[in-house]
Order: sequence, then structure tokens, then C-alpha cells
Amino acid sequence: MKLFTSVYDVTDINALAAEALQLKQNPYSHQHLGKNKTLGLVFLNPSLRTRMSTQKAALNLGMNVMVLNMDKEGWALELQDGVVMNGSTVEHIREAAAVLGQYVDIIGVRSFPGLKNRDEDYNEEIFNKFVKYCGVPVVSLESATRHPLQSLADLVTITELKIKPRPKVVLTWAPHIKPLPQAVPNSFAEWMCKADVDFTIAHPKGYELSTDFTNGATITHNQDEALADADFIYVKNWSAFEPYGKILPGNEDWMLTNEKLKVTNDAKVMHCLPVRRNLELSDEILDGASSIVVHEAGNRVWAAQAVLKQMLESL
Ligand code: CP
Repeated sequence: MKLFTSVYDVTDINALAAEALQLKQNPYSHQHLGKNKTLGLVFLNPSLRTRMSTQKAALNLGMNVMVLNMDKEGWALELQDGVVMNGSTVEHIREAAAVLGQYVDIIGVRSFPGLKNRDEDYNEEIFNKFVKYCGVPVVSLESATRHPLQSLADLVTITELKIKPRPKVVLTWAPHIKPLPQAVPNSFAEWMCKADVDFTIAHPKGYELSTDFTNGATITHNQDEALADADFIYVKNWSAFEPYGKILPGNEDWMLTNEKLKVTNDAKVMHCLPVRRNLELSDEILDGASSIVVHEAGNRVWAAQAVLKQMLESL
């Protein structure tokens, strides 16, 4: 594997999830693969889980890891070609990415959307330029439109904990006070549409995701109807795709509660984290028996390790 930016970079998602679960059983079995190899992690935005789990995965594989918080510690990046750089930008992405590629064998990049210009965000300008100019394999640590390491960890978690061959999985929108990217729900939808699950998306009117990511999903505005007989519930806020990046008024009653869980098949509740308590998800759910959010975050290590292992094997 030379690139991990979406579900389309994976030949067999079930095999990759199975490999992650094998690595969970035997984390240090492939330390020889990473000997004298270096992973560079470039963050243009904050992170707890992605940063730590991907480092841990690389260490388990015997790799060295270097982290650059580019937004705080790097030079201000210029993205446009042919410009006179007489403003605030100091270094062009052409040189920055190419130089990073001289120091490491694999690069991970995190670059969130601006949520101002939909075309710019959905063209993945920063991310694609890193891929174009760095000259080494690239793994997405979350881009403007997708979070594939999270989605793989989510598939690993569902595969690990399901008690029937084809569980019902529901992605349900949750309230938030800030406009959040569509990357996690886009990506989760894209992966679930290819997984062995019955997949439903529930959201208030106006929060439709791009159909590029939801082909094959059942989509409803009725949360109670969606939750009926659910085996897994994935809770996530996202801002509107149209009008882009906006929060629409109302919908506070979409927060999941134990009362709403009564119609489910004893559903397990997932969230990518970080989560705002009693806004996106209630204390009673997060502290109760149905929540698997910490277990899910733990599986981020094995998802990242499976991807890095396949990249190391292709070097
Ligand atoms: N879920 C997730 O990606 O968490 P971080 O933003 O903390 O990495």
C-alpha cells in the first residue's frame, strides 16, 4: 500500500480489519519491518488519539517516529503556484513536502477543512499537494473530507464486537455548538457502505451529506425509526453541506439518551471522540454499559498498525 486516504485505497476492507485484530493479539510480531524506517507525522490541526495511536502503532512495528506540529512550529505554508510570496507565507508546500520526504520513509498528514469554501475543501488541496510533492507513501491522519484511520478502527470495533453476521449500524447526527467538518461521517458512511452491515444514516433535515459518500445507505430524518433494532449506533455531529459549514437552528433533541436506546437491540454506542458531554452525548450513555467509545479509541492503534504494516511491506 502506497497511499491510505480513503476506502478506495484498500483492496479488501474485511481482510485489513482482520489483520488489525491479529496485530492486537500479537503487537510486536513484525518489529523487523520497521527497523531503520522512520514515520513522519505532520499535524496542521490538534489531535490526541490519532497522534498517540499512530505513534504507538509505528513503535510496535519497530519504526522511529518524528512529529511536526506544522501549524505551530513550521513555517507558514504557501499553497498557490506562481505567486509572489511577499505576504505572510514563508515556505511553499512544494519545498516543504519534498524536504520532509527526504527525512522519512512514510508521512502522515492531518489537514482539516476551512469550512468556508466547499470546493476548496472538497478538492483536498493541501492534502493532495503533500501527496504530490513528498515522494514517499502518505497516510491520512484526517483530511478535509475523510478520516480513514478512524473509519478502519470503527470497522475493526464492529467486527470484533458484533454478535450477528450482519449487524444494523446507525450513524446518527448529534447537536454541537460549533460547525464541525463532515470528514468523520463522510468517511464512516463510505466504509459502512462497503462493509457487511445494514447501514442507516439519521439526521435532521438540512444535514444531508454529499451523496458521493452515502451510496447504498438508508437515509432518514426520523431518529427513533432509525434506532429501532440497531446493534451499533455511531453518534457524530457535522455541519451542513448546503449551506456549507453552517449550523442550522434547533435539533437539540437529537442528543442520544438511555430512553432512546430502548428500541435498539441492546445497541453499543460509538463516537470517534473528542465528545462534548451532555451536548453531543449524555453522561448516562458515556458512563453506562452501552458505551464502547474508549474501546473504539483503543482500536485506533491496531488500525494504524495494519495500515503502516502494509506500507512498510511495499517499500
Ligand atoms: N478521533 C480522533 O481523530 O481524535 P483526535 O482528533 O484526538 O486525533
